[in-house]
Order: sequence, then C-alpha cells, then structure tokens
Amino acid sequence: MTQPTASLGIIGTGALARYCVAGLRKAGDARRILLSPRNAQIAAELAARFDCTVMDDNRAVVEAAGVLLLATRPDDAEAALGALDLRAEQLLISVVAGLPLARLRALAPRPRIARSMPLCCAEVNAGAMPLWPEEAQAQALLGQLGEVIAVADERQFELAFVASCANGWYHRLFAELEDWLVEAGFARDTARSLSLHAAHGASALDLARRDTGPAERAGLIATPGTYTRAGLETLIENGTLRGLRAGFELIRRKVESSD
Ligand SMILES: NC(=O)c1ccc[n+]([C@@H]2O[C@H](COP(=O)([O-])OP(=O)(O)OC[C@H]3O[C@@H](n4cnc5c(N)ncnc54)[C@H](OP(=O)(O)O)[C@@H]3O)[C@@H](O)[C@H]2O)c1
Repeated sequence: MTQPTASLGIIGTGALARYCVAGLRKAGDARRILLSPRNAQIAAELAARFDCTVMDDNRAVVEAAGVLLLATRPDDAEAALGALDLRAEQLLISVVAGLPLARLRALAPRPRIARSMPLCCAEVNAGAMPLWPEEAQAQALLGQLGEVIAVADERQFELAFVASCANGWYHRLFAELEDWLVEAGFARDTARSLSLHAAHGASALDLARRDTGPAERAGLIATPGTYTRAGLETLIENGTLRGLRAGFELIRRKVESSD
C-alpha cells in the first residue's frame, strides 16, 4: 500500500493543476510534486513558487509518482492516459469531466482509480468536491483542498457537476449585490465586504448548525412583517428561484446527454 505522503504526479499542467498545487502547499503538504512539462510556462511558475519538479515527459512523471492526477482537458485525456503504463500500487485520480470510470479502467487497468472535481476555491482550501468511488488515499490528499463528498455512484458523481457550476454562479450573485451597493453610493471595497460577508456568514452558519436546514433558517429569519420576508417574496415573485432551477436543469440535461 502506498503511503499517504506518496509523491504526486500531475499529467496536465493547466488551470486546475495550478490551483490544486497552490492549495496543497497552503495546507502544508510538502510532498514531492512532479509535473508534466506541457504547459511550460505554468510548469515553470509552479516549480518556482511551490517547489515542484518539472519532469522531461509524462512517462517520467508516472515512473516517479505514487499518486497520479489526470488533469488534461477531456479531449486530450484518453490519448494522454492511453500512452502511459501505470502500476498496480499507484492511485490515479481523474478530474477530467465526463470521462467515466469504465473508460479510465480500460486505459489504465492496474492502478486504483478515483474520480473527483476540485474547484478553484481549492486554492484557499475551501469548497466541496465529489469523490467516487470512495478511496481513502484520495480522500486524504483531496481533503486538504476542501470538503470531499463521497457520492453513491457515478450518476451522482456526474450530477454533482450542477453544484460545481452553482459554485461559479455564486460569484456572479455576489457581484450583483456589490454593484447595487456601489450604485447606492458605497465605496467599492465596502460594498464588496458587505456582499461577500453576507454570503459567507449565511453559509458558515448553515454549515455550523446543520440541525436547522437552510430552508427552515430562512423561514426563521424572514418572518412576517420583516423587510427580509418582503424582499424574499419579491425575489420569488420575480422568478429568481425558478431561474436558478432552470440553470440546474440545463446542466443536468447537458451532463445526461453527454453520457
Ligand atoms: N479549470 C477548472 O476550473 C476545472 C474544474 C473542474 C474540473 N476541471 C477538469 O480539469 C481538467 C483540466 O482543466 P483545466 O482547466 O486545468 O485545463 P487547461 O488549463 O487547458 O490545462 C490542461 C493542460 O493539459 C495539457 N495537456 C494536453 N494534452 C496533454 C498531454 N498529452 N500530456 C500532458 N499535458 C497535456 C495542456 O497543454 P496545452 O495547453 O498545450 O494543450 C494544458 O496545459 C479538465 O478535464 C476539466 O474537465 C477543471
């Protein structure tokens, strides 16, 4: 069995690799990190900032690593993985959207394999990422980057993409309040703090007091006669929540049609 501090090899040195490496180092993970040389600019940057080693090619990464992170774009992933020869004692973590476990196993029959999807907030060790199948070593590694959420099966793994997209939408929602506050006369920085801490505070409370669900808490806060209730009713009348649901359903259709 490979040790939890096994060296990490990354095939696909792009945006995801960049924020995962930053997140691991921020979390204090000092393991060896070995990078595929393409993209040379990002590889050089990560080597300089986060003490990573840029290897000569993908094969050299696989030879030296205990855990492999497959992080090319989906269209490049099969060719990249198919050209490599992973060993039985290794763990392969694929973050490639839409590439099923059965296909990964066909391309890499020997290692243990897990699928996950860390998001850019992994850079600050926050946010959720689904994991499937459950894999203790993957859980330990990825758990440093945020909340690892084991899901029941591959269908759920794919559907968790809806939450990943929502994570991106939230930034746009935060911006809406920030911009409105600026238009109302606040300095940009003050508006940003008011907006972001409103979101952070709501999320932090719901996470810390899980016995009360968010819907129940909204009801407890938005009681009849309050401004919060009046505003919430206006949001609902204007289709805000319906719009969010439509966004969720759009992603579901996209995920299911790419099966
Ligand atoms: N970025 C995100 O927020 C995010 C979130 C969740 C999941 N993901 C998943 O993460 C994966 C990577 O996304 P990304 O945004 O990091 O993409 P990216 O920035 O384009 O990085 C992918 C890297 O892989 C390199 N590459 C392509 N073929 C390769 C090969 N055969 N061997 C080694 N490297 C190769 C690319 O080089 P070239 O540019 O030279 O082609 C590029 O540097 C995707 O499958 C995506 O589904 C991304």
